[in-house]
Amino acid sequence: MVRRFFSFPRHARSLTCATGLLLTLFLVLALLPLRASAAELLVSLSSDRSSPQSLETAPLQDQVYIFVADANAVDQVRFYLDGTLVKTENRVPWDFAGTTPDDLAYAYDTRNLVDGNYQVSAELYQGGSVVQTLQGLMQVANQPPPEPGGEAGQLHTGWQGNPSGSLAVMWFSPLAGTPATVSYRRAGESAWAQASGTVSHSTADGQYLLVNLEGLLADTRYEFRAALAPDVWSRVYESYTAPAPGPADFDAIFVADTGLVGRLDGLATGTEQVILEIAQRNPRLVLLGGDYAYFNTDKRYVTLERSIAAWFDQMSAIASRSPMMPTYGNHEVLLGEGFDTWVNYFVTPEGWNGRRMYSFDAGEAHFVSIFGLNEYEQLPQEALDWLSADLAAARGRGQRWLVPYLHAAPFSEGTNHSSALPLRDQLGPIFEAAGVQVVLTAHDQSYERTYPLVNVPATNTPTSDNRHCYGPEDGVSWLKVAPGGKLSNISLDFSPWRTSEPPAWTVFRNNTLHHFAHLSVTATGTLDVDVFGVEGDGSVPLQIDGVRYSFNGCAPEVVAQPRQVTLLAEPGEAVSESLSVTGGDGAALAFDISQVPGWLSLSQVSGVTPASIELVADASSLAVGEYRGILQITAGEDSATWVPVVLRVGASSYGLWVSNSPERTGAVPLEGAILQGEQYIFTSPDTDVSQVRFYMDDPTGTGVVTKTENVPPFDLAGTAADDTAYPYDTGTLADGGHELGARLTVSGGLEVLVSAGFMVTNDVPQLDATPGSVLFELTPPESLAQQNVLVQMTDGSNPNYSARSTAAWLGVEPLAGVLPETLVLTADASALSPGQYQADVVIEAGTGEQLRVPVSLVYDQPSLYTLAVSLAADRSNPVPLDGSSLSGEVYIFVPDIDGMKRVAFYLDDPDRLGSPIKVENRAPWDFAGTVTKPPRDAYGFSLAGLAGQHVITAVITDADGDEIVHGVFDVSP
Ligand SMILES: [Fe+2]
Repeated sequence: MVRRFFSFPRHARSLTCATGLLLTLFLVLALLPLRASAAELLVSLSSDRSSPQSLETAPLQDQVYIFVADANAVDQVRFYLDGTLVKTENRVPWDFAGTTPDDLAYAYDTRNLVDGNYQVSAELYQGGSVVQTLQGLMQVANQPPPEPGGEAGQLHTGWQGNPSGSLAVMWFSPLAGTPATVSYRRAGESAWAQASGTVSHSTADGQYLLVNLEGLLADTRYEFRAALAPDVWSRVYESYTAPAPGPADFDAIFVADTGLVGRLDGLATGTEQVILEIAQRNPRLVLLGGDYAYFNTDKRYVTLERSIAAWFDQMSAIASRSPMMPTYGNHEVLLGEGFDTWVNYFVTPEGWNGRRMYSFDAGEAHFVSIFGLNEYEQLPQEALDWLSADLAAARGRGQRWLVPYLHAAPFSEGTNHSSALPLRDQLGPIFEAAGVQVVLTAHDQSYERTYPLVNVPATNTPTSDNRHCYGPEDGVSWLKVAPGGKLSNISLDFSPWRTSEPPAWTVFRNNTLHHFAHLSVTATGTLDVDVFGVEGDGSVPLQIDGVRYSFNGCAPEVVAQPRQVTLLAEPGEAVSESLSVTGGDGAALAFDISQVPGWLSLSQVSGVTPASIELVADASSLAVGEYRGILQITAGEDSATWVPVVLRVGASSYGLWVSNSPERTGAVPLEGAILQGEQYIFTSPDTDVSQVRFYMDDPTGTGVVTKTENVPPFDLAGTAADDTAYPYDTGTLADGGHELGARLTVSGGLEVLVSAGFMVTNDVPQLDATPGSVLFELTPPESLAQQNVLVQMTDGSNPNYSARSTAAWLGVEPLAGVLPETLVLTADASALSPGQYQADVVIEAGTGEQLRVPVSLVYDQPSLYTLAVSLAADRSNPVPLDGSSLSGEVYIFVPDIDGMKRVAFYLDDPDRLGSPIKVENRAPWDFAGTVTKPPRDAYGFSLAGLAGQHVITAVITDADGDEIVHGVFDVSP
């Protein structure tokens, strides 16, 4: 128990009780026994570490100075916060946040942490080994006590019971003793009623309170307040109950793949705006499509629970007004998160298998949340039976609109996550039998919509040629609406298409915007799903597509040709293209065109079909680059179509580039480059390019093709299987000037010709580095690594040189001298959070020549996977293989973790230059193979004939790609 006889001021800025504090300090110091000179974890309010206290003495606010005292005999101290290395100090004084050049402590700002308790530990090293570990519980308490009318933390609502008669409210309180109580009333009434609930679950930082309001009226607005402390109510929130069964107007928004705002890797380019746009539309329901916090690639909040809290914080603008009903994605269930954790945070009906699937009604709509995580897995038969019965029961109750939603996309042509074929096989027949209209999915970072399909998966036959409106007899429209703010960690972008031409089942697709879908049903028998695209830069969202199912028949469709317009203009030029707008079956339809981008003018923006419209793109004030828009053509309320328009200004939006690295890093324009030796020459960007043909010394691209590339990236000398470039040997060209031409086939059948002139000077001495680029891979607790780079002149001459690094984490030595020289590059990740980093070592020779060596650092999380060894075929009592000493017959394996797809094992081949000696395609994952018959024991591996040290390497394939683990062991006779 911590004795709280000492307290720092709540805010260092307001020192009104400074006198009292000094008195207290004096008393405390007088009462403290003289400290023995044992090492301790202390905290001070001054950078000079004066008046230190034990870290555990009192709650901390604002900036503090944490350090280890009386540890003079040690030579290194490593500081950890909740087990994560935050600082390595190599000389006294030992400061948690580092030491200034004049030996003062740097401040640690506790406001970067959520209020709560944190474990601080310090490992004291002597001669490379830990001699002592100090630990202390740090209490962070920056928040003032709650005030009446304040916000309830992470407040969100959902439906546990009947959506038309209840509303469940969940919120977070950091204060123990906050009652689970909500007061509520119908909007417009004056008296408050009160309802009590329970603590849903607790975390290190506080508790989540849950109150289910019951006995409410259908389709009615309620006001409610949550308890922030005993007798302290939050501000007034409001939300609606769902309409009762039967015809009613109702709307919902579907969003998925959001990520957390402000990701350090920059991938959350749309999250903030997507949330704002949804909040502005204030729907009556939010359907969540999975993949929320991405804890495996965003560790800013240290723990999963705090990452989830940050996600509910950012969603509060939506979640406090619209019930949020989730489905779970691969990220919530696999990848270091967990269904059991996430499910506590959401309020849903019971459904199947601990709320993995559930369903609910609103008016005539029936929503069902399906546990479809990724493109590999199937649902168990029990889940399918539950789903079939659920849909049949909904139909039986007279629910007209059946809307299943799940994370993985059974129809997806994106390359980040292709079609979830096992789920397509399972769900297609069930949805068709039940008469489902639209399915909402996500996971792959792009938008795609199919025609209404029947006979899925056998023939995927469309029931209509219409692009917008369908009737009750039509098939199932499969929509993939993603991402909702976060770009992919696979492509670092939206998902590139597998093929430049969409498959036959596609009505519309887009992979250049973030997306959300607005679903609305009317009492008069229509269901519309309008899809919006968000750039993320604050520009107005565009409606990019829409699908309607109607019980009242479909109006003739408005049809635009071509389906997509691509315009190419040189800077300063105006170009045009015509667009025909017709009515289906020759109908004369009055139409309007909206969402016309500023750089485009139309000969008419309204009229009657048929019409031929001139689109003129004026590039006179546009920079070189690519401009995109989507025209919305509507014919009254009943018909609409959407036409993407792409304007490329300047063929130079595509160009030829050269790099001295197979990763193409540090590339410069090929135009004007002076080249020697092996070079990596390629075209960029790859956007919308399906083929590149290169023509050496043929800038018009009319002669013999030097090289054809059909898949990005597009490299003059070809591309290796791992997407690195093969080198082009400039030695095959004579010294002097050359020109390279390249023809790029871009989407829409257009061809772009680019060319560049460059110089080859192989006989002139050059500054050269070997290797030409460096990759560091570090996994905590490892934070330091070194590699050598030989720098020399190609003619062996000996000029002076100087070297520098462009990043603080990258050191280079010696900084100056005479060539040739072996430079030692040191990567120090101790001050970095996990992620990928890029920097250069810049070398300048006395000859005036400069050379950049690109350096990449991948600072990883420790792997989830391990190699284990057991002495029994049933793998009992396993120990880590790494560091073990073995003999005789052993059973080596990788313990199974959900989501593993394949394991390849290598013996004494850590770089995997040869073939694996064993590949296991299903669990259990045994190095020597698995007995086929139950209980599926492991085959033994005999160590006879082996002696000394050996290494087994396992490459584990999961949804995120390959993970490599090694186990080094000794064989004793
Ligand atoms: Fe996903």
